[in-house]
Amino acid sequence: MRKKFIAGNWKMYKTTAEALRFAEAFKALRADPGADGRDVAICAPFTQLAALKGALAGTGVLLGAQNAHFSDEGAYTGEISPAMLAEIGVDCVIVGHSERREYFGETDADTNRKLHKLLERGMVPILCVGESLEIRERGGQGQAVERQLAEGLKGLSPAQAGGMVIAYEPIWAIGTGRTATPEQAGEMCGFIRRAVAALCGVDAAEGVRVLYGGSVKPGNAAEIMGMPDIDGALVGGASLVPEDFARIVGF
Ligand code: 13P
Repeated sequence: MRKKFIAGNWKMYKTTAEALRFAEAFKALRADPGADGRDVAICAPFTQLAALKGALAGTGVLLGAQNAHFSDEGAYTGEISPAMLAEIGVDCVIVGHSERREYFGETDADTNRKLHKLLERGMVPILCVGESLEIRERGGQGQAVERQLAEGLKGLSPAQAGGMVIAYEPIWAIGTGRTATPEQAGEMCGFIRRAVAALCGVDAAEGVRVLYGGSVKPGNAAEIMGMPDIDGALVGGASLVPEDFARIVGF
């Protein structure tokens, strides 16, 4: 039985003061920290990570980053390395978000190098895959996502692939309020699991947690996460509001 995984992706929102206020409010909303049975993560901007690590200590809430370079160090002005994130105690890192692919030219080959390095450093990668509206309209979503997986997961062992998280985020549903239907989301998450089985073996497919992301809100989260192949959610806008994120994670 896979444990549900619900991660908030704050994107480029919240100063440190705002992040700390969120942490206090979020902690206060949590009724019974011992009875969660699910992994909850907050993926914050780099400059908020160290402060959040302290603020979330003892809560069991995992700390996530939104990107990392694929080297431990080097002449890469403006970048942050997996070693630097590991030192802070970051647990998981989003890789290949569609906003990184679209605005910063991140390629499938980049995501692959990042996955290898993060796994080597003991952090859980959250690989994002998903298609544009144009691709969806011509029915090419399977092919597009399959390519992102084939390139992204290249060279990973079954155990490595099985321990990671993959988020299906259709670009047309991100920040648009236009959520994929539970059936559309479930169908693609099932497709992803079958693709992982073909690429990395059935054990990897059984272990990997496949999330849905794209306009997840308190009102639709339970139905989406109740679909058989969906192991959780990657939440953007609604993760910025403590009450909304607490309702989504089920506190
Ligand atoms: P929204 O939940 O704001 O649509 O964002 C989804 C997302 O991109 C999470 O990574």
